[in-house]
Amino acid sequence: MGNAATITSVPSQADVAARVEAILGPMSLADKIGQLVQIGGADFMPGPKPEDVIRGGGAGSVLWLNDTKKFNELQKIAVEESPSKIPLLFALDVIHGYRTIFPVPLAMAASWDPDTAEQAQAVAAKEARAAGLHWTFGPMLDIARDVRWGRIVEGAGEDPVLGAAMAAAQVRGFQGPYPGAPDHVIACAKHFAGYGAADGGRDYDPVFLPEAQLRNVYFPPFKAAVDAGVGTFMSAYMDLNNVPAAGNPWLLREVLRGEWGFRGFVISDAFAVGNLVIQHFARDNRDAAFRALSAGLDMDMASGAYLENLAGLVEDGTLDEAIIDAAVRPVLTLKVQMGLFEHPYVDEDLLDQVVALPEHRDASRQAAQRSMVLLRNEGGLLPLSKDLKHVAVIGPVADSMEATEGSWMVFGHQPAAVTVLEGIRAKLPDARVDYAPGPEIRRDYPSFFEDFEPGKKKPAQTPEAAEAAFQTAVETAQGADLVIMVLGETDLMAGEAASRGSIDLPGRQEELLKTVVALGKPVVLVLLNGRPLSINWAAEHVPAILEAWEPGTEGGHAVADILFGDANPGGKLPVTFPRSGGHAPLYYARTLTHQPEDHFMYRSRYWDSPTTPLYPFGFGLSYTTFEIGNLKLSASQMKVGESLTVTADVTNTGSVAGDEVVQLYIHQRFGSDSRPMRELKGFERVPLQPGETKTVTFELGPDQLTYWSSSLGQWVQDAAPFDVWVGSDSQATLHAEFEVVA
Ligand code: NOJ
Repeated sequence: MGNAATITSVPSQADVAARVEAILGPMSLADKIGQLVQIGGADFMPGPKPEDVIRGGGAGSVLWLNDTKKFNELQKIAVEESPSKIPLLFALDVIHGYRTIFPVPLAMAASWDPDTAEQAQAVAAKEARAAGLHWTFGPMLDIARDVRWGRIVEGAGEDPVLGAAMAAAQVRGFQGPYPGAPDHVIACAKHFAGYGAADGGRDYDPVFLPEAQLRNVYFPPFKAAVDAGVGTFMSAYMDLNNVPAAGNPWLLREVLRGEWGFRGFVISDAFAVGNLVIQHFARDNRDAAFRALSAGLDMDMASGAYLENLAGLVEDGTLDEAIIDAAVRPVLTLKVQMGLFEHPYVDEDLLDQVVALPEHRDASRQAAQRSMVLLRNEGGLLPLSKDLKHVAVIGPVADSMEATEGSWMVFGHQPAAVTVLEGIRAKLPDARVDYAPGPEIRRDYPSFFEDFEPGKKKPAQTPEAAEAAFQTAVETAQGADLVIMVLGETDLMAGEAASRGSIDLPGRQEELLKTVVALGKPVVLVLLNGRPLSINWAAEHVPAILEAWEPGTEGGHAVADILFGDANPGGKLPVTFPRSGGHAPLYYARTLTHQPEDHFMYRSRYWDSPTTPLYPFGFGLSYTTFEIGNLKLSASQMKVGESLTVTADVTNTGSVAGDEVVQLYIHQRFGSDSRPMRELKGFERVPLQPGETKTVTFELGPDQLTYWSSSLGQWVQDAAPFDVWVGSDSQATLHAEFEVVA
């Protein structure tokens, strides 16, 4: 099955290039410019109708449309009525599933399992392609060390090595073995670059990052995407060191194409070319179009600046037409590779067959199980017995399909998740399972996404109604033998334009939690959220805490699978949990200071709270226990440029099967620059039966030990002594050392 299945062999690069030249040759300047324009297909877009723009040759691609029939209608206009007859590329944000929704990307990273991420995006691609889409705006590869930033939910967290592994896996999942492969879509590495370091965690705010920080921390996932063959890139919105990313030739030409050899094309973020004027970088739209294209930005997403200005710029001699040709080539290349000239239309019956596939839901359920992180389990409260007779499920997100499928559901998607309440009820068919949501939670300032989805806007609960809901929740808990509190954030509390100053549980949730715990019943806390939350009180007083993130369509089943022991949690935090939003950015790979934590003058960096994380990067518990030992290095010394191997044994010392993520960290003791106190350099998620031992092997060589030095302004591998730790989180203590000599 698959709408491109008729492509029997992959054309060679030379064939594609020859074909592109043959298409490009006769194109008029206006035809070419049209290929560099992406227009919105949604009703909320002002201006001329998409049909008319396409008919006039003013668009090469359409976004914000999710309607299979309409795709074919617009495509027909493009291939039959537009001057160039070149088919359109249909693009959409398919971030963690198209119809079968998977855990959000931050959760997928918590699986520490790139294969799971690859499979998830392959399912997303298959459904999206069947719907008639060719191109997704994912994966999002922004490293995020500031938990206040809402878009942390869309990425892989704080670490470049985990981020790079997840980046490559997602590109493979979306694109398949080659660009244009049947049942796959083209991926887009976004947002290039530095977006996650927005000042104060405030979405879109400026970013100031030194080159070393960009190259050592923020670029690696993007470089990994290029190496995995990603077809397109998206530039970020914000200023990077005072130059907006959409008009930044250093990023788009020097680094991306020059150093990394990227041959695809770069699209702006939405309206970002026009925004160069609002950002007080460009004089006007014409200047914006000129500077963005000159900087290496090929396609204008929805701002209209290219369509309005590029022809004039060429005609008056400001812009060389060769620059336009160079931008059009990779766009045509992708259309050729996708087989659009042979098969511009989608089979309208395909989607129903593809989204109904049971294996997609199974894959989503397994991915959700694998992504959940057990944060606390005092006295082995979990897993719960299936013989429970009377359970209360309490909390505003316990029965919320939106919170379960989470941030960035596909445009126009109707949430259809199994909620946690439903998952628990399905697991306990004979028990009494009572439910009360408690007071509602909502943003203090609404999200602009609510304007696009009519059903989203609901009147706020009155204080009286909230109080009544609070009391009902407490009474409901009182009657039960065990209480499962499902707390966290709703879908629009993380994501784009969803930054927060505090990372506390929103609304009255913590108060409700405290009141319920005071009843003296066993309480399990399940968190549904798109970012770390400062659950300091819960971390001390609630015996069992499961971080379930925003787990997707099968999320409720997956939570119940874990709570009742049908699956053993093996996820690990891809991001540090700080004790307060005010501690952000807090991350494990910081450099040492003259007063490190074991210094006699060190207490805490703050006088009002410990600076240590609430939960460290890489942390997560299991229903079994593991021992990691027998750490061995193949050499204690090596020369710059050489490699050594590190091995360690991991044993399941408990009584049930489970997975341990074995993590390797290093520290360089001195060098051209100060180096982070720890850096992740390898990891492996290892499944183990009770009593079973496996050996994990990691390599340490120039790829792991070279870094961009601020002092030298270049890449360097220093001759220096190194520490190595192998263990189950970023505070691992099993230690060895080696030395690199000149
Ligand atoms: C804005 C977002 O920043 C970007 O991630 C997304 O792909 C585009 N809008 C298109 O929806």
